[in-house]
Amino acid sequence: MTDRYTQFVDHGIGRDIAKRLGLPQPVALRRYQPGEPLAPGPVLIQGTGPGADALARELLGWNVDVRRHAEPKEKLGAVVLVLDDVAHPSELGRPVLAMGASLRDLAAGGRIVTISRTASSAESPAVAAARQGVEGMLRSLARELRAGATGNGLLLRDGVETTSPGVLAALRFFLSGRSAFVDGQFLTISTDDGGLPGNPDRPLDGRVAVVTGAARGIGAAIARVLRRDGAKLVLVDVPASGDHLAAMANEVHGTALQLDITSQDAGERIIRHAVERHGRLDIMVHNAGITRDKLLANMDGAKWDSVIAVNISAQLAINEVLLQSDHFRESPRIVSVASTSGIAGNRGQTNYSASKAGVMGMVRASAPQLQKIGGGINAVAPGFIETDMTARIPFATREMARRLNSLQQGGQPVDVAEAISFLASNAAAGINGEVLRVCGQNLVGA
Ligand code: NAI
Repeated sequence: MTDRYTQFVDHGIGRDIAKRLGLPQPVALRRYQPGEPLAPGPVLIQGTGPGADALARELLGWNVDVRRHAEPKEKLGAVVLVLDDVAHPSELGRPVLAMGASLRDLAAGGRIVTISRTASSAESPAVAAARQGVEGMLRSLARELRAGATGNGLLLRDGVETTSPGVLAALRFFLSGRSAFVDGQFLTISTDDGGLPGNPDRPLDGRVAVVTGAARGIGAAIARVLRRDGAKLVLVDVPASGDHLAAMANEVHGTALQLDITSQDAGERIIRHAVERHGRLDIMVHNAGITRDKLLANMDGAKWDSVIAVNISAQLAINEVLLQSDHFRESPRIVSVASTSGIAGNRGQTNYSASKAGVMGMVRASAPQLQKIGGGINAVAPGFIETDMTARIPFATREMARRLNSLQQGGQPVDVAEAISFLASNAAAGINGEVLRVCGQNLVGA
């Protein structure tokens, strides 16, 4: 769906009018193009500990223009603030204020990334306070950034180094245009597993992936991005969407499997189809989902049950089959699509929010099972994304939902797809049981 307001205020007279009237000024976001530089200018690594030095050395090997000190008046593509060794809130001021001095020099579409440690793993109250303080600071800072710049953070569990593969992979994701609509979010890196792909433009080379609900919307975007990143694809959708599904399968050189994911044998059919075509299955993307909105007082059993059946029960049943299959054993990865409605709640969506919160619970509880077989499972929680689903929202409500985030616009299906492709890759092996919001830092929710 077209966001005409964003197009109007992106340049010229439209931009001047919006500025004069104090209206929202969304800009076109910096989105990923294969072969483009990772950041729109030099990357400044701040922080004085050994973790910052080691990270700066590592980034030099990426063909990135790395700085340890800002040059006066030089535009920066990104600032990475390494705070992995803070032990007391009183230690935050100096490095954070030093970063603040660089903010005016951040290029359009620039990035701020903090690297710190999880507060939950700190035993000392002062250490926990300092670590949690980083999270509060970054969330507020992200709301202060303009011109499509974003701020996100990496949270390392104790024992994970700043140069471990999972940290580098997630840092690459946050610095790149792949994370255009991810803002004010944290990713937790739990282990040293994973590794950067040989070719960063094709992180899924040769991997076999299934995407449900792939005939249109976000699912179609996921199929395109996974294909671009090198995956071989099986696309699933209901028989009623057969024509669209076949067209998508043709476009991405994949195969189509017409299947209602709530049918009893869905898991077996998915595995059988993938094995017949490709010999195995590596990546399962649970994207298919429906809404049947009603205030709870007016909700009937059919509306409640159908949403729960498609959005969460089907995923649970399919995962159970995959986890028992010998054909889902080569660093298998599952990525589920949740929703910010499952985090913050949404009027008229008790059924949908129950199902999407359920996805997050499922992902957390399944993580140890996946880890046992050398894999991982994570969820992506989109906010307002421009699709047929959101085009049906009445105009005034839609405009509100679109603008009430730090980037003042809705996300595109490709933004969700980029996050899914990253979490589906082996580079994200250190990330397990997490939920990543792709919501432009919605004003609602955690
Ligand atoms: P959409 O309605 O455009 O596409 C959903 C696809 O899933 C359709 O092709 C549909 O035929 C398929 N599907 C539905 N039930 C199925 C079943 N039983 N078996 C197989 N396929 C089935 O929806 P959209 O917007 O692309 O959403 C995709 C996912 O993203 C959903 O899980 C949705 O809940 C989630 N989401 C979307 C947001 C948005 O702003 N559009 C925000 C947050 C989450």
